[in-house]
Amino acid sequence: MHMRVLVINGPNLNMLGIREPNIYGRQTFADLEEYIRSEAEKLGLDVTLYQSNHEGDLVDAIQNAFGVYQGILINPGAYTHTSVAILDALKAVQLPTAEVHLSDINKREAFRQFSFVSLYAQKTICGKGFEGYAEGLKWLSKQQQEELRG
Ligand code: DQA
Repeated sequence: MHMRVLVINGPNLNMLGIREPNIYGRQTFADLEEYIRSEAEKLGLDVTLYQSNHEGDLVDAIQNAFGVYQGILINPGAYTHTSVAILDALKAVQLPTAEVHLSDINKREAFRQFSFVSLYAQKTICGKGFEGYAEGLKWLSKQQQEELRG
């Protein structure tokens, strides 16, 4: 059985390639999705990709992951720094969770240096661009293997 992973991208990530290319690069969101699919395939993971600009929809997606997925990879975008609701949803479903940011939020504006999501996520990867998603998938896959080994 392949591990099922839900990959969630939050607000404005659909604007990749257009938004602030000096920070986020020129590759598009479609490029990112293709990259994630191909990295997941290499790892033998069954991935579902979800993107929304709406906080409540992201909360719904996390809640609906309960009992369906064995791990979550999330880039919550700006909600990283504001959303207690997303943190609570992650705490509710208790799935292994990796948090990823394209940019290094620790080296940007002060308001980006705090992450609510990090209060639950067991792994955080920042500043590695697309590769951060591959690293997050690898980490999730390793967690699953360790759990199966017991
Ligand atoms: C981001 C960093 C956030 O601060 C920002 O609001 C984003 C993207 C990143 O991937 O670097 O939308 O999560």
